[in-house]
Amino acid sequence: MESFRALRVHELDGGIEACLETLSIDDLAPGEIVIQARFSSVNYKDALAVTGKGRILRRFPLVAGIDVAGVVTGSADDRFQAGDEVLVTGCGLGESHDGGFSEVVRVPADWVVPLPAGLTPFDAMALGTAGFTAALAIDQMERNGQQPDAGPIIVTGATGGVGGIAIDLLSGRGYEVIALTGKTDAETWLRGLGAAAVLNRNTLAPAHRPLEKALWGGAIDNVGGDTLAWLTRTVKPWGNIASIGMAGGADLHTTVMPFILRGVSILGITSANCPLERRKQVWNRLVTDLKPRYLDRIVAGTIKLDGVPGVCMKVLTGQHRGRYVVDLG
Ligand SMILES: NC(=O)c1ccc[n+]([C@@H]2O[C@H](COP(=O)([O-])OP(=O)(O)OC[C@H]3O[C@@H](n4cnc5c(N)ncnc54)[C@H](OP(=O)(O)O)[C@@H]3O)[C@@H](O)[C@H]2O)c1
Repeated sequence: MESFRALRVHELDGGIEACLETLSIDDLAPGEIVIQARFSSVNYKDALAVTGKGRILRRFPLVAGIDVAGVVTGSADDRFQAGDEVLVTGCGLGESHDGGFSEVVRVPADWVVPLPAGLTPFDAMALGTAGFTAALAIDQMERNGQQPDAGPIIVTGATGGVGGIAIDLLSGRGYEVIALTGKTDAETWLRGLGAAAVLNRNTLAPAHRPLEKALWGGAIDNVGGDTLAWLTRTVKPWGNIASIGMAGGADLHTTVMPFILRGVSILGITSANCPLERRKQVWNRLVTDLKPRYLDRIVAGTIKLDGVPGVCMKVLTGQHRGRYVVDLG
């Protein structure tokens, strides 16, 4: 393709503007692999980047979008040939390097993951960074001893992309899952993904003791702040808390008591700079023992490039459930 469409973000008078533009390959950051993009997806980080509500982009102008799946059309690296189906998530895509909201994407070969057998480009992006991160969190918890018989796993930010997929993956793997949400009307949807019970985050009673009644075998936390502090006080001995996000705040006020008296672990989860071999291993779990069962319920909609800014606003105001896939044609 000599020219193609992309959503590129410019810095203007201290603010930012996302524009649908026609670009050529020379406009993109360098890399050994050229991909004809098929699908991308909208993540919380994309919403911050496209709206300018968060300082995600490291240079301007830059094509946004931290995820992409498609077909290789040009390769200067022996590991890939034209026609290979591939995906890229994180690694600086849509942050410091032109990203996935584009019909053509060019990236370094070390970022590229062959599409696992059995996964379509659409499903790869229905999962995207959110699904990869949920699987990475479960993988890390299990490396640290988490098992279904240790008790229920509570998932916070349950109706978000990471939360919804985490519920699906955990319940499929035999964990009892408790969903914590602020959306009182989402109970049926959350149970449909595999949640055994749904709790309302707005009715949690604040407590001030360093340790409270131990309720959860472990936790996947997308919210941070007071919610993460509460999790440290309520996870059972030897349980793991995967700390993924900060939709509710970046601070953490707790004591060392859960760690030294209960052996609770907080596991930091960072998907963007995950090493390539671990990346491939986690994607392979997503087509085997961590295969999602309810992606069709998690996909809230499929949009075109021109629909991305509107969906980003929706994501930032927390009005959505699940994930939006971007169809790049
Ligand atoms: N560490 C990593 O590598 C990594 C990777 C992906 C995402 N993340 C982060 O993980 C978080 C979730 O990502 P996502 O893609 O799932 O985002 P998302 O789809 O926007 O979901 C976030 C969810 O958090 C809940 N929430 C929103 N505002 C809140 C508030 N003020 N207090 C408490 N809960 C709130 C809402 O769920 P309910 O209404 O159901 O409560 C919302 O749906 C984000 O912070 C994102 O940046 C990190």
